[in-house]
Amino acid sequence: MEALWALCLAWAAGLATTSPPNIVLIFADDLGYGDLGSYGHPSSTTPNLDQLAAGGLRFTDFYVPVSLCTPSRAALLTGRLPVRMGMYPGVLGPKSKGGLPLEEVTLAEVLASHGYLTGMAGKWHLGVGPGGAFLPPHHGFHRFLGIPYSHDQGPCQNLTCFPPATSCDGTCDQDEVPIPLLANLTIEAQPPWLPGLEARYVAFARDLMTDAQRQGRPFFLYYASHHTHYPQFSGQSFVGRSGRGPFGDSLMELDAAVGALMLALRDLGLLRDTLVIFTSDNGPETMRMSRGGNSGLLRCGKGTTFEGGVREPAVAFWPGHITPGVTHELASSLDLLPTLAALSGASLPNVTLDGMDISSVLMSSGKSPRESLFFYPAFPDEIHGVFAVRSGKYKAHFFTQGSTLSDTTPDPACHAANPLTAHDPPLLYDLSEDPGENYNLLEREAEVTPEALRAMKHLQLLKVQFDAAMTFGPSQMALGDDPGLQICCKPSCTPYPACCHCPDALV
Ligand SMILES: *[C@@H]1O[C@H](CO)[C@@H](O)[C@H](O)[C@H]1NC(C)=O
Ligand SMILES: *[C@@H]1O[C@H](CO)[C@@H](O)[C@H](O)[C@H]1NC(C)=O
Ligand SMILES: *[C@@H]1O[C@H](CO)[C@@H](O)[C@H](O)[C@H]1NC(C)=O
Repeated sequence: MEALWALCLAWAAGLATTSPPNIVLIFADDLGYGDLGSYGHPSSTTPNLDQLAAGGLRFTDFYVPVSLCTPSRAALLTGRLPVRMGMYPGVLGPKSKGGLPLEEVTLAEVLASHGYLTGMAGKWHLGVGPGGAFLPPHHGFHRFLGIPYSHDQGPCQNLTCFPPATSCDGTCDQDEVPIPLLANLTIEAQPPWLPGLEARYVAFARDLMTDAQRQGRPFFLYYASHHTHYPQFSGQSFVGRSGRGPFGDSLMELDAAVGALMLALRDLGLLRDTLVIFTSDNGPETMRMSRGGNSGLLRCGKGTTFEGGVREPAVAFWPGHITPGVTHELASSLDLLPTLAALSGASLPNVTLDGMDISSVLMSSGKSPRESLFFYPAFPDEIHGVFAVRSGKYKAHFFTQGSTLSDTTPDPACHAANPLTAHDPPLLYDLSEDPGENYNLLEREAEVTPEALRAMKHLQLLKVQFDAAMTFGPSQMALGDDPGLQICCKPSCTPYPACCHCPDALV
């Protein structure tokens, strides 16, 4: 299936410009390394994402620093490791007092101060706070339409299927307020009907592009879809259509949204002026079995520091600027802030960044300045430090721990029943020969090669140096909960929070 918007690419390629590019950053939720057609999934229907991969640069070795929603999103938007800014342990909830500290400088702020019109559609998950103090409009986004956290962090039994207001698959968190859909700081619906959500987000995105063009300024769109997080849902035209069950239908709707964004760019004549980046926040939630996504040949999934948790599909597409191809260079979601600042000419914030400018990889298929990657667990502490380190083709695990989120895979190392385990010597894998982390090079002492020994010592040294140089910021999650902070469309109603119910105009 050929994507409609791609028919005019040859035309777009001839007309490169030099002004700051528009930026569309599409962030999928719990989408695994093996879930897209372009990454080898045999039955996914992802023609638009596959077209982006074919016409853009597809990364094989692109990582997130933590395989969990909140910290991964914090890293993406700041270029900084989540522990620096207190975004640990675990994730934020609807009652959380904490959030992404306001002194953190987000990609939206970096670009807004360089003249960009900035907008975000979708899942935030970086805190609500008193009076919505941590929401996107206070973090550099001129416009926001979305849900402030995951769509399963509230009762969801009537939200995910057709017809609305019947019981559907999944129940989600029952002791939370119904999930709100916010337009900037205003409650649009509580709860929104989920199969209608993607169309709203696409319309929001189209308006942002149109308005920015009318104002003669570049735009930054952060499109953080709820797909493909549990529970799966999709609009009418996708239910039962993907050939891959409910997960595939949800992914197909995400793919169609990507196609609609590309079509909007084409209609506005902006394809050649827009850098589109696609990636995911963490590996698949395999505890949901076939409804939870797939990490392909990689080991484990969400919640772990194995490759299936932290290595993500990633594509950068910019006709006339980025040469189509595949890169095996090391890259991280941390690198997007410095890279996009460099490409747009915006100044970097005066903070310690963990990301690097990898524009040489994007623009000239060059070498990555990144030589190593450091992985924290979902519940990090300063005593254990990083659990795993990658340098070049080698990765060492100093600690491993399974996660409920990675339950049900055939490999018991992934499961919650696998406790925190120290490895001395570390588990050492050559990811170029063994991306699935199956064969520990230090397993049998008699067979250890001098090269493996050198790699181990190098990675040990990197860990020691890295941990010694890292200071954890005070934990935002440790601030705890205040039920009164839950967003409610009817102030002072009872019984709170179930009474916070304001019908969705769509239903
Ligand atoms: C948010 O506020 C901006 C600026 O006032 C406005 O243009 C936009 O329509 C509002 N709503 C949404 C959903 O962004
Ligand atoms: C779901 O819908 C049913 C039937 O209308 C209703 O009885 C039930 O209270 C709803 N549940 C929630 C959590 O909204
Ligand atoms: C950057 O921050 C440091 C310490 O916070 C400060 O000493 C320095 O003056 C700042 N530099 C600029 C250019 O603002």
